[in-house]
Amino acid sequence: MNRKPIIAGNWKMNLSISDGVALASTIRDRCSRYRDVDVVLSPQAMMIWPIVKRLEGSPIQVAAQNCHWAEKGAFTGELAPAQIKDAGCAYTIIGHSERRQLFGETDAAVGKKARTLHDQGVIPIICIGETLEQREAAQTINVVSQQLVTAISDLNDDEVATSVIAYEPVWAIGTGRTATPAQAQEVHRNIREIIVRHHGDAIAQRVRIQYGGSVKPNNVRDLMSEHDIDGALVGGASLTADSFVQIVAHREDID
Ligand code: 13P
Repeated sequence: MNRKPIIAGNWKMNLSISDGVALASTIRDRCSRYRDVDVVLSPQAMMIWPIVKRLEGSPIQVAAQNCHWAEKGAFTGELAPAQIKDAGCAYTIIGHSERRQLFGETDAAVGKKARTLHDQGVIPIICIGETLEQREAAQTINVVSQQLVTAISDLNDDEVATSVIAYEPVWAIGTGRTATPAQAQEVHRNIREIIVRHHGDAIAQRVRIQYGGSVKPNNVRDLMSEHDIDGALVGGASLTADSFVQIVAHREDID
């Protein structure tokens, strides 16, 4: 199965609006020739709209970093999937470990968010991953399995197939400590097998599974050469055009 690679930059709570728009412009100009990879930028919410406008006519898509599961209503400070769609986002990151650890996002909430996003035609990027403690206790597969199964429990086959899964071991995020390609592949293979068990092989083969956690220009190629690694969710290295474009262009020798 030929899955189109998907490289996403998660800017988290960084950059001013003007710096974000400028970075998006540079990335657009420098990535336009890499048509065999889907490129997604996930800026902080206040800069989504100007960045969507700036990227008009380019294949680069925009993702929100979080959403609420309700359609609308009295949820001060939240973003509804319909509003995210209205702003021009094609994707939304849900279940990021920072949201799970710092803001109490539960597996059940991730499942409800995935459901509402698909109702609006927005693709969820569903983040899952174990802590160092869980890995050392040999709980990695149990943990990601539980997170994944709950996240996709309310989705039909086609919705699962189009969702993006991001495996982000918590111990590799922002630490400079990347999972080795073999360690990541082992978890990705298990993730795909879990999807096979619930939705069958044909659906599982369509799902794109990103790796995230200290992805850099110098390790992306080895990670991406693994069979079940279909993309990267990049934090720190997505904040400068040079490093992000090198990651997007990982199949070429030089940008
Ligand atoms: P880093 O690439 O900075 O480790 O962050 C990864 C991440 O959390 C992407 O969502």
